[in-house]
This record gives sequence, structure tokens and C-alpha cells, in this order.
Amino acid sequence: MDNHWNKFIYKVWAPLYDFFFNSGQFLVARKKVFKSIQLKPKQKILLVGVGTGADVRFLTNKNVEITGIDLSPDMLQKAKMKYASHQVTLLEMDAQNLTFPQDSFDLIIANLILSVVPNPEQCLREMIRVTCLDGQIVIFDKFIPPEQKLTVIKSVLRPVIKMLGTDIGRRFEEVVAPYQKAIRIEDDSPILFNGMYRKIVLRKLKEYGSF
Ligand SMILES: C[S@@+](CC[C@H](N)C(=O)[O-])C[C@H]1O[C@@H](n2cnc3c(N)ncnc32)[C@H](O)[C@@H]1O
Repeated sequence: MDNHWNKFIYKVWAPLYDFFFNSGQFLVARKKVFKSIQLKPKQKILLVGVGTGADVRFLTNKNVEITGIDLSPDMLQKAKMKYASHQVTLLEMDAQNLTFPQDSFDLIIANLILSVVPNPEQCLREMIRVTCLDGQIVIFDKFIPPEQKLTVIKSVLRPVIKMLGTDIGRRFEEVVAPYQKAIRIEDDSPILFNGMYRKIVLRKLKEYGSF
């Protein structure tokens, strides 16, 4: 998986994406994730890897400032068409190299992105950097549960599924390890398919202002 391939594969996914990942059990899981988020007026919110804008619907008309970034112009185009009449800023950008200054956003939504970017540690580093002190990062994504090994079937399927644009073999504990002092994990709970997908909430610690 690299940015080149991701751009290509999400061009292919763009017309089909909402049918598979913005409906049924995925939509139920998304609703659960957003139900637990306490929005505050005027909050600045960044959706990292915003895709077709599946999560934007939970944020419109809430008196918050919404920005979404994505590598794929085709996925972004879908989001732009849906939210043309709303005040949503949508930008083409690499999630591993965000062009925002540090401490720019109160809340980051990182749904189904850490399992997709080539370098999830760098992506999380960037998300922490641009989060305001005491701000939150909300993640809905699939990781191997800490106590589980990668099964033989998953090991065989992993390279094939990577070609489809996502990695089923990542461990959140490894992704977050370099940043343990910069954040606090406030929630880590199963949300879909027996804990394959989790909701994880991180808080940027005040004392790490110069992260
Ligand atoms: C599985 S989709 C998730 C989209 C959306 N967050 C959602 O929950 O439906 C992954 C998204 O990540 C985007 N993506 C892949 N690599 C990226 C990168 N390096 N930087 C930013 N976005 C990237 C893809 O274009 C795609 O829109």
C-alpha cells in the first residue's frame, strides 16, 4: 500500500463506497460513534480521510466548523457533491503530512483511515500535532484485538485485502506506542463485528503543548 495505489484504488471505490460502507451495519456503527461525541458550538473539526463524506452528516447544522481532507480527488468529489450547499471545507491532502499548523483543531475524526494509510504511526503523529491541547481524536477502525494473533486465514487474505485499499493486520497498540506520553486513551471499545472494529477516543495531554 502506498499513496499511488491508494489514489488508484479509491478512484475505483468512489462510485461504490457508500453502498458498502455507509449503509447497514457500518451506518449503525457510525451512528453509535457520533452519539457519544459531545460537540461544542464553534468547535473546529477535522475529518482525516473524509472520503465520500459519510460522517459529515453527523456534523452539519451543529454550529461547528468542518474541514475534511483526503488523498483521493474522486472520493472528495463525492463528498463535495453531497455537501455543496453546506459550509464544509474539503481539501486534497496527505493524512501523513497535514499542512495545518499545530493545535489547529478541537476534534479530529479519524474513521477508517489508520488501517488505510501506508504509515499509520506518521498519520497519528500528524493528527496529534494538529489537535489543540486537551482536544480529542476519535477513531473508528479495524485493528487486531490486543490478545489475538493474526489467524492463518487473515494472514493469507491480508495481502489481497491490502490491494483493495485496507490492512486487516494492524494493531492499534503498536500505532499508538510512540505517543503514549502525548495522549490519554479515554475509550477503547468494540463497535462492530465482535470487536474487529473499535471506537477509540484519545485526548491530547495539556503538558505536551510543543509536540
Ligand atoms: C476506507 S476510506 C474511509 C473514508 C471515510 N473516513 C469513512 O469513514 O467512510 C479511506 C479513505 O482514506 C483515503 N486515503 C488513503 N490514503 C490516504 C492518505 N495518505 N491521506 C489521506 N487520505 C487517504 C482514501 O482516499 C479513502 O477516502
